[in-house]
Amino acid sequence: MNLKLKVWRQAKGSEKGCLEEYDAKDVSPDMSFLEMIDVVNQGLVAKGVEPIAFDSDCREGICGMCSLVIDGVAHGSEKGTATCQLHMRKFKDGQTLTIEPWRAKAFPVVKDLVVDRSAFDRVIQAGGYVSVNTGSAAEANSILIGKDIADTAMDAAACIGCGACVAQCKNASAMLFVAAKASQLAVLPQGQVERHRRALSMVAHPFPFLSLRAAMDRATCLRVSRKWLTAIWSSSGLPSVPSVAAQQCIRRGIPVNPLPPPTGNSSAGMSPCRSPSPEGWK
Ligand code: SF4
Ligand code: FES
Repeated sequence: MNLKLKVWRQAKGSEKGCLEEYDAKDVSPDMSFLEMIDVVNQGLVAKGVEPIAFDSDCREGICGMCSLVIDGVAHGSEKGTATCQLHMRKFKDGQTLTIEPWRAKAFPVVKDLVVDRSAFDRVIQAGGYVSVNTGSAAEANSILIGKDIADTAMDAAACIGCGACVAQCKNASAMLFVAAKASQLAVLPQGQVERHRRALSMVAHPFPFLSLRAAMDRATCLRVSRKWLTAIWSSSGLPSVPSVAAQQCIRRGIPVNPLPPPTGNSSAGMSPCRSPSPEGWK
């Protein structure tokens, strides 16, 4: 396959960025998206051009490091799939792809496609934990947990903290992330004691993306979540993100309609060059 790439290049956060065009030639359909960029980077290095900086670690959909907006959709349009698990067979020969970093003020660009997601770490620090006494591990059977509860907690724990939900939300809300991190412990007996304080600490955290404004985006975070976390809300009995979102929409007079499919239009109408944090960014 041969593809044309429009890639966001930005030397550092304080400088202007720009979409630059590259050819990706002889791409195997079996390559992952990140392997395709590796090949492009090899070609750039051979020509003495600075390679494209992007994040990755596990490359198997676990760590949440890979973070690319592909044709306007965080992680691309393949449902429940992290960028590293997206394969080139999902694209067509001759296609032009636009690759951008997560676009949210809470995730400032470090370089090219790399963003600083330490805001998520600070949210976890605020309440994404349970307190345990140090010492030897407790006997596993001392607190019995039903399979349904364990499964629900595990579903919530499937959130890999990638940030796609924030990047996709027009308000850059981290509602889905916070809800996953609150409920993965709150449904377990070990999480009961601190659950109210932890949840309040997380939602009270002073980050611009932590408001409950996901509503205004009609919960598009659910569309891009790497783990398709909707199941958590339907099975846990916890307040549902979509229903909270819908209530907020109704309060603001915004019609609550079924979600349209991702449009992949983040670059539509944008100038090819723009400042690091243009006003249109969240
Ligand atoms: S909720 Fe989904 S999209 Fe958001 S950080 Fe977790 S895995 Fe990523
Ligand atoms: S590189 Fe770890 S989830 Fe993609």
